[in-house]
Amino acid sequence: MGEKNYLFLSYSHGDSIDEFVNVLHAGGYATVFDETISFGEEWDLKVRRQLRNPRCKGMLVFLSEKSASSNAVLTEIEYAEKYDKPYAAITLNNETPQKIFAAAVRHGNENAQFVVESMAEYFPQNKLYILKSDFDLSCGSKLHKTFSEWGIRPDSDTADDYIASTYKSTILGEKERLRWQADGYVDFDKSAIDRAIQTLPGKELVVLDLGCSDALVTYSRFASRPEVVKVIGVDYNEKDIEAAKVRCKDDPRFVFYNVDLNRSDFNLQIKEILRENGVDGVDIVFAAFIVQHVINPKILLLKLFDILKPGGKVIIRESDDGSKICYPNDKLAEEIIRRTNAIIKSSDRDIGRKLYSYLSELGYENIEVLYSVNDTVNKSRKEKEWLFTMGFAFRMNRIKSIYDENPGNEFLRKELQWLETALDKLKISFFSMNFCYSVRAYIAIGSA
Ligand SMILES: C[S@@+](CC[C@H](N)C(=O)[O-])C[C@H]1O[C@@H](n2cnc3c(N)ncnc32)[C@H](O)[C@@H]1O
Repeated sequence: MGEKNYLFLSYSHGDSIDEFVNVLHAGGYATVFDETISFGEEWDLKVRRQLRNPRCKGMLVFLSEKSASSNAVLTEIEYAEKYDKPYAAITLNNETPQKIFAAAVRHGNENAQFVVESMAEYFPQNKLYILKSDFDLSCGSKLHKTFSEWGIRPDSDTADDYIASTYKSTILGEKERLRWQADGYVDFDKSAIDRAIQTLPGKELVVLDLGCSDALVTYSRFASRPEVVKVIGVDYNEKDIEAAKVRCKDDPRFVFYNVDLNRSDFNLQIKEILRENGVDGVDIVFAAFIVQHVINPKILLLKLFDILKPGGKVIIRESDDGSKICYPNDKLAEEIIRRTNAIIKSSDRDIGRKLYSYLSELGYENIEVLYSVNDTVNKSRKEKEWLFTMGFAFRMNRIKSIYDENPGNEFLRKELQWLETALDKLKISFFSMNFCYSVRAYIAIGSA
């Protein structure tokens, strides 16, 4: 074990936890768990020693029907309590702990039932648990946050030893990129907004623009639509909100507010804003390149049901790095994407492909997905420059801003050095005669 901090893993030997152990180790977390020793005096001593050790920062309990009725698991939880170690459950069948306990009681004998009932006391309704499907160590995930609260950080020699803050439109070159994007998707957005409006029953429409930035897109997409009577733009960047107010000062239909979409009560804040503006619901939620930046996109989309009128529409525009395909030099492009995305941990750069699934899972209806394809074929130098910046070059500024926040980080410094050379190489290809690159943007539309 050396001198590393570690997590104690508690599980039933009837379950396999190999896949979780692999993910934890790949993420730089050290673990301790008993693989061989059977329940008994030696086991007891060893478990107590491991849990009492100050380097043990917490315990993950892999909950299943089997582990819920395991004497050994119950004892390990009792020791965690005794030695004041935090613990959380990972539920192996994607159910809540309470459902697992109920099933274990139904199927177990009298002794097992006693164990389950004792175990259930350690996992009240409000205790943290994580579904197997949410076992994710990326920055901002529930587990990542939990581990840092417990005081365990990934191994300091790994690529994870830095903080990648959330997206900021203030980083070098980003405003220009947003301007280019705004221009590039005028027709695409128009077709989606037309489609959504056609099917809306009301004629006096209220629009909510999430992550509106300085309202360049907000104003250009909605100002010329007479059926729109109110446009509420929200963003967590105060400077952007001030700039948005200035941009739209002559059109009283536009109002802007400083709102953080990651806040658990963001829907309540929006409801308050609606009340303040004398409206009782939203007809269209427009969200361009923002869902990828929030910590939990599904929760955001779920909360929109509180804000949308029945039948109201969401229009979500996103990209997906998997749709960026080129030849020749495809391997280099893929490596640039893979290595930079591993650093830009706070944004989901593969979100385009997930939008249909998210909306459908959350109960949105009449879902449509529209695609806009762009490529380098027969394009001018200026258009190729646009595509290169949008798809690849912007990564340099994002990584630089993360390096600025983690000055001297050796891993980031090396990655930046590599990226500079790799981008130069790819750029030469981009402008050569035989090079072809294509990329898809997605708009998903759904009804509440
Ligand atoms: C890529 S920009 C897109 C801006 C604009 N929608 C557009 O299409 O040009 C993302 C915007 O979302 C904002 N943003 C990111 N995370 C946010 C959050 N949690 N809450 C509110 N705004 C957020 C950023 O400040 C930025 O203005």
